[in-house]
Amino acid sequence: MNRLFHQLLRCLPLMAMVFACSSDKDATSIQKAEIVPQPKSIQYQEGKFVLNQDTPIIYPEGDPVLEKTAELLQGYIMGALGFAPKIAAGTPSDDGIVLTAANQDASEAYELTVSNDRILINGQSAKGTFYGVQSLRQLIPAKAKGNEVAISAMQIQDSPRFSYRGMHLDVARHFFDTDFVKTYIDLIAMHKMNTFHWHLTEDQGWRIEIKKYPKLTSVGSQRKETVVGHAGRSNEYDGQPYGGFYTQEEIKEIVQYAQDRFITVIPEIELPGHSLAALAAYPQFGCKGEHYDVATTFGIFDEVYCAGNDSTFLFLQDVLDEVVALFPSEYIHIGGDECPKASWENCPKCQARINSEGLEDEHELQSYFIRRIEKYLNSKGRQIIGWDEILEGGLAPNATVMSWRGMHGGIEAARQKHDVIMTPGSHVYFDHYQSLDKEVEPLAIGGFTTVSKVYEFEPVPEELSEEEQQYVKGAQANVWTEYMKSSEQVEYMILPRMAALSEVLWSAKEDRNLEDFKPRLLHAISYYEQMGLNYAKHIFDAEIAASPNPETGKVEVALSTFSSEPIYYTLDGSEPNQQSEQYKGEKLSIDKPVTLKATTFLNGEKGMVKSETIQLNIASFKPMQLLKAPSSRYEKYTPALNDGLRGIMNFGSGAWVGFLHGDLEAVIDLKQPTEISEVKVGTLVQAGSWIFGARSLKVYTSDDGKAYKEVASETFPETTQEQKDMITDLTASFDKVSAHYLKVVVERQDKLPEWHKGSGQNAYLFVDEIIVQ
Ligand code: ACM
Ligand code: ZN
Repeated sequence: MNRLFHQLLRCLPLMAMVFACSSDKDATSIQKAEIVPQPKSIQYQEGKFVLNQDTPIIYPEGDPVLEKTAELLQGYIMGALGFAPKIAAGTPSDDGIVLTAANQDASEAYELTVSNDRILINGQSAKGTFYGVQSLRQLIPAKAKGNEVAISAMQIQDSPRFSYRGMHLDVARHFFDTDFVKTYIDLIAMHKMNTFHWHLTEDQGWRIEIKKYPKLTSVGSQRKETVVGHAGRSNEYDGQPYGGFYTQEEIKEIVQYAQDRFITVIPEIELPGHSLAALAAYPQFGCKGEHYDVATTFGIFDEVYCAGNDSTFLFLQDVLDEVVALFPSEYIHIGGDECPKASWENCPKCQARINSEGLEDEHELQSYFIRRIEKYLNSKGRQIIGWDEILEGGLAPNATVMSWRGMHGGIEAARQKHDVIMTPGSHVYFDHYQSLDKEVEPLAIGGFTTVSKVYEFEPVPEELSEEEQQYVKGAQANVWTEYMKSSEQVEYMILPRMAALSEVLWSAKEDRNLEDFKPRLLHAISYYEQMGLNYAKHIFDAEIAASPNPETGKVEVALSTFSSEPIYYTLDGSEPNQQSEQYKGEKLSIDKPVTLKATTFLNGEKGMVKSETIQLNIASFKPMQLLKAPSSRYEKYTPALNDGLRGIMNFGSGAWVGFLHGDLEAVIDLKQPTEISEVKVGTLVQAGSWIFGARSLKVYTSDDGKAYKEVASETFPETTQEQKDMITDLTASFDKVSAHYLKVVVERQDKLPEWHKGSGQNAYLFVDEIIVQ
């Protein structure tokens, strides 16, 4: 929590920086439009519009939709300038900020024209006008001084690339109140996105009131307690009852709130899996029929709806009747992901269904389940969206596929001429870590997804033909909240990654440019600050990119920031401060062991200190051969074993090589007889991830690469259940010897012990570096 607090404190100076350009006397003046997402075209003209307390917002007489948009604009101006312009009905030739719209409802395009007398926002539909208002909002400084703002004359023409621009929120693993859901919707609107995917039901809680089945919320919305720490690695529970749900009145309020901001709310009712909370309330709809509890940990559960029981379908239809009445969205998300088949395999009713329907197996039974639900929803005039598992066993005829296990499901669905929404874990799972160094981050599910990586995301796969590409309707970020207990934590995970996604979804592919995006992102952040949001600060931190160069035997190091803060660094392991060396943009060339530490200062406030240990030694870059192959996933990182770079507590970072079947047996050619007296091997211990400490280290030397002599042998105790995760260097010291060749053997813990959840299976050994001196 300390870190969160630190981050909140760091918000304050940025505001000073962004507005330092405006003096107290003069009106703040906007010369250049810095809008996220980048509009299609901006033409600057002579002149300026002065926005002050006398500027009215004009909407067409008798147009309640644009009147509402005018009210929202009034609120944005109030937030920035501290006064609320008056709103009046009028005509496009009036002076002031004028909102108009044509009737092309399918279009989201708009034109925004700033001239001396007026700002005219003309949408091809009211939706377009709303997006023009969002652009205008970013032409008004988030916190201007004085009572007026001058905006340069310009003309913006704009329309989005994709029709589906979504943000998902899981309110089941943790519950978020309607105030926060509204803030979330405000953010979706600000980023010109148009879909809120509301994940309302799960194993850990049912969050939507269903009048016909009151126990869904009285029982299903409550869990006894919650796992503490990472579900995969923890057996500790907090003992605190946890719950919450939305009444139908609250749902209607949210749907209206979203509609006022031209956002469609797509509810997700998970089936046939992720249904434990519903089964806890109504056990008769599960295969086993009794004894279900709302889940208190996270993962995938075998208990699912019974597909052989017709009453299950009648129940789900009743639920969907109420859902359809609450949500006007054309699409209803029915889940479909991660549904284990064990319960169906052992259920006489499910097996009878497979027989009576002539189905091949349980995958086809899942397909039967989804088709039957689709048929029902289609009969109500609605369409379904499902996670990419709905491809298995055959796609329901009209289904849209949400591709989350990479892009592959989306590609497959597009080839079958089904609509697709791309949400691959690789780029748009905003539950992933934002730093490789997990130790300094609040707990997250895993992964590593930076703002830059989100920005690089391309939703349309090249593998698809031009015709097939048309089925890709857009993309969405998914926000699963197992490890987001508070709204502040959700803010931290979505901001500013969401800004990067908004540009992927809105702006033309050829207009996307990371360097151009950076300053505009800083501007967008000033609005997050205005709104008091806890955005993540990683973009202000120093980044260290170390490239080992086997040719020169040196390590080249580039330091950078996403913003343009000066970077200070040290090479002796001491804490950098503003008196330390300042990075001048030229790569550092490191040819000896150093501990590099680098940081930025944002208006005097120190950012994260990033560190890189470079341990160049006798073995660095020397020819090395592994006598036993590493685990195939890590084979490509083999050169990291003697590149001088050390790993951090993240086995997927590229610095670590994992061994699962054989020991590490490395032969290093030192190129000439060399005096040595110590070998160190860096290892990782992370028992929860099946990574155990080594059992022994043996060192052999040779003059000819054929006959080896043992010079050292060390043994190490078995990793215990109590062992904390750590990086540890195994050391073997010996009397000075001359060696031309060196063999280093590190023995793995063979099998995981009794107490371990993977008992009997192979343990991993992870090594980052072999250091010889
Ligand atoms: C998912 O992340 N299980 C859709
Ligand atoms: Zn069954």
